[in-house]
Amino acid sequence: MSLPTPEPCNILLLGTGGREHAIAWKLRQSSRLGTLWVEPGANAGLLELGRVCPEPIGAREIFRLNRWCDRENIHLVVVGPEAPLAEGWAEKLAEGERRVFGPTREAARLEWDKAYAKQLMRAASIPTAEGRSFTAIDAAIAYASVRDEPCVVKAAGLAAGKGVVICETADEAVEAVRNAMERKVFGDAGSTVVIEEKLEGPELSVMALVDGRTFWVLDACQDHKRVGEGDTGPNTGGMGAYSPVPIAEEALLAVIEREVLVPIVDALRREEIEYRGVLYAGLMLTPGGPKVLEFNCRFGDPETQALLPRLRGDLVDILWRTASGTLDEAEIDFDPRAAVATVVCAGGYPGHVKAGDRIEGLGEVGSAAGAGEDVFIFQAGTAPDASGPSGSIATRGGRVLAVTALAGDLRRARDLSRDAAAKVRFPGAFHRNDLAHRSLGPAAPRSPRAAIAR
Ligand code: AMP
Ligand code: GLY
Repeated sequence: MSLPTPEPCNILLLGTGGREHAIAWKLRQSSRLGTLWVEPGANAGLLELGRVCPEPIGAREIFRLNRWCDRENIHLVVVGPEAPLAEGWAEKLAEGERRVFGPTREAARLEWDKAYAKQLMRAASIPTAEGRSFTAIDAAIAYASVRDEPCVVKAAGLAAGKGVVICETADEAVEAVRNAMERKVFGDAGSTVVIEEKLEGPELSVMALVDGRTFWVLDACQDHKRVGEGDTGPNTGGMGAYSPVPIAEEALLAVIEREVLVPIVDALRREEIEYRGVLYAGLMLTPGGPKVLEFNCRFGDPETQALLPRLRGDLVDILWRTASGTLDEAEIDFDPRAAVATVVCAGGYPGHVKAGDRIEGLGEVGSAAGAGEDVFIFQAGTAPDASGPSGSIATRGGRVLAVTALAGDLRRARDLSRDAAAKVRFPGAFHRNDLAHRSLGPAAPRSPRAAIAR
């Protein structure tokens, strides 16, 4: 049943991080928003934008949460992270006229089971790395030990972005298999592993809103996964993102829509699974064309912190329509300015970090913005600092916050974001200075086509 967007629309936003802060910030710009509720564990930025839901947020309390949603007349539940979707919260919280933005457990399987995603891609001829899935360790080791090319060993389940190991040699691949399947370093997520060829090329994040039938492909983003400048050092949850991506011109996005997004949603439909929410394709632009590395069933983090400040349109209406199957009537457009989100991290990240350091300088980040430019802060690992003056905040995680700058061109947006991030102070704070280097750096392609053909 299609329902018009409620006005006012009361929303419960699940998730506690930077992506959710950006979503909440954008929701707050809508005249349709009623009361915005956030989780009890939300970061300090989210706590400023929403009222705190008094119910505990956990799989075991879902019944109570549902009753609470009834009492508070929640019209829409927006699910930020993947874990609740993998646990089937979307179907459990959608009741009566209440809608949930985010796919069902069955549809979210694209993210929580990489072996399943691989099988579906193969069946639908979607370009992806060649690979095989294993549930038996002996077979996985036998396969890994004869690899004479670099390969990638992936835990098939949800491993908080840490379950992927790039292996240059067969010995490394065998070790990665043992870590996942024998030593269980990713817990149950590694009971099944996918071993696939290592691809080369720039990465691209393409997110589409899908309402079951209609698609809306959002402007592309590029994330920076490695902790160090020049893409060196260990993988992280994301050190920054930018949008739009010069190499992702319209023709390339059309190929991705035609060869990846449409066939995967059709493949799900053939299994009688309807996808509603954001479908995120993580792609590598290889010399042979774009290939899928992974699907996610939610907005990317930190891509969202770069993308939403560029979104023109009413996010309450857009998310409601996606959740209720009327996306074709939504109005979506993007600010042509470039956005760069620089993530400020706590010392030691992606390893162990210390919490509880007071964050200073937030009031100064916007000072360098010129006419026609904007700077925003999206908090992630932060908490109110009870020991400081009113309104002060402290660190509570590895990725502390993102500073997003919007400017007329990508280089200026990057420089503004970088300089603004440098004004954020706490002991051990660091960030990457070279974001967007694949588009701006000396190795930047001369033309978009050259990048794809390289
Ligand atoms: P995933 O969670 O599958 O997206 O993998 C995380 C990161 O590992 C990706 O963003 C890539 O940087 C890298 N990766 C994953 N699969 C491959 C592959 N087949 N070849 C090269 N790099 C990969
Ligand atoms: N930025 C990568 C992700 O959200 O999975």
